[in-house]
Amino acid sequence: MTLLSSSFKSGPVRHGVMDKPELYGRYSGPIEAAAARALDEVWPLLRWSRPALPVLDIGCGPGDVAAKVLAPWLPRGTKIVACDISAEMLRYAQANNSLPGVVAYERLDVTDALQLEQSGVWRRGPYSKAFAFMLLQWLPDNRLALGNIYKLLAPGGEALFTIITKICLYEAYEKMSQDPRWEPYMKDWPNFVSPYCPSEDAAKDFQELLQSEGFEVLHCSVRPEALAFASEEQIKVVLKSVNPFVNRLPEDQRAEFLEEVFQRFCRMNGMTKDVDPMTRETKYNFNYMSMTALARKAAKLGL
Ligand SMILES: C[S@@+](CC[C@H](N)C(=O)[O-])C[C@H]1O[C@@H](n2cnc3c(N)ncnc32)[C@H](O)[C@@H]1O
Repeated sequence: MTLLSSSFKSGPVRHGVMDKPELYGRYSGPIEAAAARALDEVWPLLRWSRPALPVLDIGCGPGDVAAKVLAPWLPRGTKIVACDISAEMLRYAQANNSLPGVVAYERLDVTDALQLEQSGVWRRGPYSKAFAFMLLQWLPDNRLALGNIYKLLAPGGEALFTIITKICLYEAYEKMSQDPRWEPYMKDWPNFVSPYCPSEDAAKDFQELLQSEGFEVLHCSVRPEALAFASEEQIKVVLKSVNPFVNRLPEDQRAEFLEEVFQRFCRMNGMTKDVDPMTRETKYNFNYMSMTALARKAAKLGL
């Protein structure tokens, strides 16, 4: 066992744990761009304390956003603690997105209240900011995560969330779960649907949840988001990397299963194409509805 693999031990299998970092990180440019757009949207609202406290990137995945978006964007000298529940993600992040002295990787299940104060993430806190890009749609119970994030923040600390609220992948999963070929492997498909998908007003529901956990909401909006990839093949790779069912299938059925997911996704306009007017290159858009929210923990009196 290498030093890296022993430092990030896998825990029990939980919903939302992603185990294909190389696939998810292979075409990370459009994913980094979406994180940068969210940062840009709320940047003027953020407050920076002196001396600088560390910031947290929760559900950091392969580490591209921490190392390539947050590190260059944040005020000079800001330390980033990037954490994920997935040992595979952390091993990959450490090997491919290591920025010694700037980014430290730690394992954390952000929904686990019992272990929080024993974790490496807790020891390195409190934090001036928590970033959770594309994380909360994976967690059936967002309240548990928000309670822990609140505890990890310093008084006056801020949390930025981007969350998929709707994506036609969910309809594809529902339909495929009714097909006798795939049904045995997809019985729990509703657990992989964003908790905001059934909501009539996702922004209102999320704001109320944030407020009930003690946060002041500074911004919360839902809008269509498109990740612009360079080819259909790249979108297939991303769809595979986030697919929670494919590992359960016999190997000789996986390609057929993934092709059907892709075809259904395209038929419902999950992927659309357009031509970049400047470069004349075709862009392959990965479409979904995205919520961006910024919330602040109350500052203690006198601070
Ligand atoms: C869609 S990826 C987002 C990765 C990265 N934030 C980005 O924007 O590219 C979601 C990540 O959240 C992690 N995750 C899922 N459940 C988690 C939990 N309970 N605690 C911490 N991380 C979790 C997954 O392992 C995965 O790496």
